[in-house]
Order: sequence, then structure tokens, then C-alpha cells
Amino acid sequence: MNQPRTVRELVEWLVSSIHEGVWLPATPLPPERGLAQQLGLNRSTVATAYLELQARGLVDRRQGSGTYVRGDLWGITPDWPRYMERAAFRPLAPIARQIAEARQQDGWDFSEGDIGSDFWPLDTLEHLLADVELKKVLGYENPLGLPALCEAVSLEMKRHLDVDVDPGSVLITAGAQQALYLLARGLLHPGDTIAIEKPSFYYSQALFQSSGVRLVPIPMDKDGILPDALTQLIRNHRPSMVWLNPTYHNPTATTLSLARRHAVVALCSTWNLPIVEDDAFAHLRVAGTPQMPPPLFRLAEQSSVLYVGSLSKIVAPGMRIGWIAGPRAIIARLGEIRRQIDAGTPGLVQALAAGLLASSLWPNHVEAVSHALRDRRDAFHRALWGFAGLGATWTPPAGGLHFWLNVGGSVPDHVRLQWAVNVGVTYAPGRLYGADDGFVRLNYARLSPGKAERGLGRLKDAINGEAVL
Ligand SMILES: Cc1ncc(COP(=O)(O)O)c(C=O)c1O
Repeated sequence: MNQPRTVRELVEWLVSSIHEGVWLPATPLPPERGLAQQLGLNRSTVATAYLELQARGLVDRRQGSGTYVRGDLWGITPDWPRYMERAAFRPLAPIARQIAEARQQDGWDFSEGDIGSDFWPLDTLEHLLADVELKKVLGYENPLGLPALCEAVSLEMKRHLDVDVDPGSVLITAGAQQALYLLARGLLHPGDTIAIEKPSFYYSQALFQSSGVRLVPIPMDKDGILPDALTQLIRNHRPSMVWLNPTYHNPTATTLSLARRHAVVALCSTWNLPIVEDDAFAHLRVAGTPQMPPPLFRLAEQSSVLYVGSLSKIVAPGMRIGWIAGPRAIIARLGEIRRQIDAGTPGLVQALAAGLLASSLWPNHVEAVSHALRDRRDAFHRALWGFAGLGATWTPPAGGLHFWLNVGGSVPDHVRLQWAVNVGVTYAPGRLYGADDGFVRLNYARLSPGKAERGLGRLKDAINGEAVL
């Protein structure tokens, strides 16, 4: 159905959406103002349509809490919420939903976790796509991955990180996120404990919670996790693994120092603890900053570290190409699990990724992104000057995509985010990552410097409480 324009069309649209299960019985419809904004209608049009739904007996209006699809419609549909509640996966945290909803609006989105399409190597990918021999990639492939891509990843890990990995020790995944899923499901039991940075990547936290894995947070400072705190925590909680994102950490952008890397590796070796090294941002060094320290995968006995890489940040997240490098027996086992889940990553994108990594243009692309990041980071840093006046503090990142601001204050993150959303700005609040209230993660790379500067001006006023609507 086309975008509704009149009350009658809107009522029809809402009725069919309820029947299609867009909103289930006993759940709320969107607030009038939000829906009006989303559809480009007057609020009064939405209010009238909601009254009409009430008159037809489809919804209840509850004073102060909105409009709900009537619960007794269950007679005509199954009790879906019960099914969803009993299943393994937890719903997203309310603040994650708040961000997802805010992203729907036009305006300034600083919340995303990728470099943005300005930097995707589209011409190279288009040429490579034209050259893919479909006959060779459309079968049920080896669930470990296309041999050409495993080989290309192994060569890239040598080129970029100076690590030797046999192609047979590489498993291609649908992004780093699926790698984390396979590791959590393949190697951990419900009830296990893992040690993980506080704060940390939201979706890994959500995944562990859904898997029944308990998280114990490792405190961090500007040089990454504190080895002494990790020692204490191992003694107290006996985790079964240590999960780290040591380079250009999400969300804080810090990098674990070389001395601490050695300390963490030694500590985990003493306790015979495996490490998962999530290195999704490894290629995103800002030009002019020091080379990052070697990965834990190089510093430790390789059989004790499972390394996770990704092309999402340096190429494009929609490629959904990531990988795990680790002991061959573990890789083989994870491949068996992968076979059970979805039979492997689509051959077509794997062929594209293999072509890209093997292309003579690849190192130029990595270099070009690094320089572009420097320009965008420096412009963003200049545009942030006004935040210093609010007492905010930050360190310009040496890599990755984010500024991590401590804006302090006593306002809960979800309230402050709503102030920003009201003036058209979205960002990722620290709470999303398990930080205390008062932190703001801003992607500096996606918006042009001019647009970013205008958005930051609005955000500053909103954070200050000046622009609350
Ligand atoms: C630390 C970290 N790990 C993994 C991922 C998932 O990346 P991918 O798109 O490769 O699944 C992200 C995405 O933001 C991330 O920040």
C-alpha cells in the first residue's frame, strides 16, 4: 500500500498493519507525534485515525501511556509474545530500540558504526563483480569458506599484522558478529563466566546474555584494560575466557598498550585461559598516528588466542565478511556448527572479498581510508571545541571511527539522548555499552565536515539542556 495521506488511508494502513502483526495484541502503537513525523502527516490526522481504531474496537486508549492494540485480539491470533519470551534470544535493550527508532528520522546520525559509503571501494568492487565466475561460487561451498578467500585472509594477516596463519586455520563468517556468535555458542555453556572490557560492544553483550553467559567487567583506562584488575577478577570469578577488543576499542577508541598486552598474555597463560581477540577495527588507523602494537594473536602462543577479523569497517558492513583464525581443530569444529546453522557465507560475496584482498589496489584503499580518517577526525575535533565549554573531555582517537566524550552531569543517558533526538541528532550513549551515564560515542567519519559541524552545534545545545523541545 502507498504511503497514507488521509485519515481514511491511514486507518486502512493501520488496520492491515495490525492484521499483519506489525504491532501485536497488547503492545503499543507508536506515539502520535512520532508516527506523524515518520509518515510526514499532521499529528491531528494520526490522532483522528487512532480514535477511529478505538471506535472499531481494535485499540484501547490509556490515559498517559498511549494507544495499545487490544489484548483480546488473541482470540484470532496465536500468543506470539509468549513464544518470543520463551525463546533463547533476549529483546534488545530499550536504549538500543530508542536509537534504532531515532535513526529513522532525517537529521544528523552520529550513532552508526561504519565509515559510510563515501569511502566504500565501489568501482573496484563493481569491476570484480563483473569478473566473478558464477558457476564456481553458487554451489554449497565448504562451510569453512571459499579456499581463495581463506588464502587471501591468511596473506592479509601476514601483510597487515605480520602473523603467520595457515589458510586451513581460517573460518570465514558473516561478519565479526557471527564469529562472536559461533564462538559463544560453540565454546561456552550457559552458566559460564567470561571477562570482558567495561564498556564493550553492545551486540556482544546482548549475545552473551541470550546465551546465558555471565559477564564480569574488566575496568579500563586510556591504555586499555588494567592487568591488575584482571588478575583479581580471575581469582575471584574464575572466568572460562577473556574477550577483548584491544585495538581501537569500541566504544572508547583506546588501544591496549604493548606493556599491558604482554602482561595480559602472560596472565592468561599462567591461568591457562583462552583469549578471544576481536580486531574488527584493525585496519582503521588514522594516518600520522603511531603503528598499533602487535595483536595478542602474535604475542601469545597462537593456540591460546582466537582472532576475529572483519571487512565491515574497512570495506563495507553489508559485505558481511569476517573471519576467525585459530587452532585448526577449533576451526574445524566451528565449521561443523556453521554447517548446521546456515551452510556457510554466500560464495558470491566471498569471491568479491577474495578478489579485493588480492587486488593490487587493496593497499591503496587501506591507505586512502587512513588519510581520509585523519582529515575527518581533525575537522571533527575542531568542530567539538564548544563542548569543552560544557566541561566535556575527550581524546582524539588514533584509530577506529569514534570520539568518546565524557559529558558528565546527572542526566540519565536515555533522557539526554531524547533531548538530542528532539533536535534531529542521534548518537550512541555510553549506557548502550555498559558504561555509566554521561558518555557519548560519536562517529566522526560518516558525515561531511560541514554537516557534522552543524549537527554538533545542535547536539551541544541539546546536551546543555538549551534546546529541549
Ligand atoms: C568490537 C566489534 N566487534 C564486532 C563487530 C561486528 O562487526 P561486523 O559488521 O563485522 O559483524 C563490531 C561492529 O560494530 C564491533 O564494534
